[in-house]
Amino acid sequence: LVASFGDGPLRGRKVVVSAGPTYEDIDPVRFIGNRSSGRMGFAIADAAREAGADVTLVAGPVALATPAGVARVDVRSARQMHDAVLAACDGSDIYIGAAAVGDYRPEQAAGQKLKKHDGAPLRLELTENPDILAAVAARPRPPFLVGFAAETHELARYAQDKLRRKGLDMIAANDVGDGRGFEVADNALVLYWRDGSVSLPRMPKTDLARQLVAHIAERFLSGHG
Ligand code: CTP
Ligand code: CA
Repeated sequence: LVASFGDGPLRGRKVVVSAGPTYEDIDPVRFIGNRSSGRMGFAIADAAREAGADVTLVAGPVALATPAGVARVDVRSARQMHDAVLAACDGSDIYIGAAAVGDYRPEQAAGQKLKKHDGAPLRLELTENPDILAAVAARPRPPFLVGFAAETHELARYAQDKLRRKGLDMIAANDVGDGRGFEVADNALVLYWRDGSVSLPRMPKTDLARQLVAHIAERFLSGHG
């Protein structure tokens, strides 16, 4: 499959991409976050725009410039990302969930900075965040859904399980054992769909994003051509 978008395979299609981490506030100066630079998601948004799509990028806290021609919505927490993604997905054709969404949040962020207490441990009770992909999948006419699975072990099993459990059309599995995949320019992915898979070898994230978008366009168009 050649990742060249000369014929604009996604022209006129509405694509939503989520990227980056989410931050869940503990108090005014501290948060719980995920390791994610947002680079892969931003590269995907850029590649989708290159493929002719009308792209909305919902971004968690990242230090990255907005790709040219892409509409960007900035959010901080998982719940804010949930609301922004659902709004953006209204009438969209494809949703690519590349964000590292925080699974848990402190139920209530403290209004004032927490202070230390003579060596006593601090216990935080955490509440599960809503699953954004599952929420989009539950909409009446959901877009073509692409998820990511970042796993440190048993990559294929967990990724294929998430594909089925979340009702996805495709999942991009990312091996993050030993710090791989984070804060680096290169990455590798294995793509799974219901009756197939393909390995995309280690390469710069910008090239990887183009290949991923080419495969998404091919699978999407084979169902909606
Ligand atoms: N995801 C999401 N909303 C969440 C958590 C995850 O939309 N609250 C999406 C991610 O953006 C990703 C996919 O689900 O596309 C898989 O995320 P992952 O963290 O691997 O899966 P989880 O279901 O959270 O399972 P776990 O972290 O326990 O492996
Ligand atoms: Ca998770």
